[in-house]
Amino acid sequence: MGMGTRLFNKIAVVTGGGGGIGAEICSSFAKEGASVAVADIDIDAAQKVAAEINSSGSRAIALSFDVADIGATEKAADRTENELGPIDIWVNNAGVSYIVPFLDCTEELWDNTLRVNLTGTFIGCREAIGRMRQRKQGVILNMSSQSGKKGSSHYAAYCASKFGIIGLTQSLAVEFASSGIRVNALCPGVVMTTLWKDMKEDYASKRGIKTEEVIPYLEKRIPMGRLCTPGDIAGVAVFLASDESAYITGEAVNISGGQMML
Ligand SMILES: NC(=O)c1ccc[n+]([C@@H]2O[C@H](COP(=O)([O-])OP(=O)(O)OC[C@H]3O[C@@H](n4cnc5c(N)ncnc54)[C@H](O)[C@@H]3O)[C@@H](O)[C@H]2O)c1
Repeated sequence: MGMGTRLFNKIAVVTGGGGGIGAEICSSFAKEGASVAVADIDIDAAQKVAAEINSSGSRAIALSFDVADIGATEKAADRTENELGPIDIWVNNAGVSYIVPFLDCTEELWDNTLRVNLTGTFIGCREAIGRMRQRKQGVILNMSSQSGKKGSSHYAAYCASKFGIIGLTQSLAVEFASSGIRVNALCPGVVMTTLWKDMKEDYASKRGIKTEEVIPYLEKRIPMGRLCTPGDIAGVAVFLASDESAYITGEAVNISGGQMML
């Protein structure tokens, strides 16, 4: 794979960077010349991604913190700026997802979903924007979903968190446009990462189909006829993180093979 320069000398933090979509965003940013702080609650996963980037000739560090922990997030941001330099790009990607009938959705499951997905994104945005504002430049990317634009049964907590991320994104885009900070959201369709593999059985039971029928069932509803890949998302993330998208802010970009168009 060749090296590009679209993010040359940029410093990026990617939460959930040890996992499926986040790991792909980390390596795509690195291939375009960024130095990357790979952040994940799973330190082994973060270290593995950072080591791959370092051995490919780009620079990365691994950070371990819970995105819903303000103090730990601040410390990790300090470490990033000490070791790599001032943060230019912050990707709030860490997230959790559960399919459960609404009346079985406990307060604990609701709270955990909102805490990681929405409060974690709020904390990341505050940490990043506080630093970026002083330099009058910066890019925030928040991971929403097609479930941030359309509700589904058995998915209330997740959809509420992902709708919330779009509201947060739009509000910050307006508030900080004059500070040179762009804030956009990504809305992917289904990617078969660990997150989705763990939900396949619950999805099958919600639709009344067999587990092995889940992927063909999903594919049939996508105009392009295939699921989303981490690479599909990383390509859009690179574009939105780079100056190529200098006039785009407050968007929630569909990456859904034509399934979502609003
Ligand atoms: N997979 C999909 O179909 C899909 C579709 C749309 C949006 N998304 C969103 O994309 C993001 C990434 O999803 P994925 O499919 O790559 O999931 P994944 O489970 O493969 O990876 C998520 C990563 O986040 C980390 N993480 C979880 N909770 C954390 C916390 N509290 N603090 C720090 N790190 C934490 C995990 O350790 C993991 O490495 C999520 O926000 C998800 O909601 C996924």
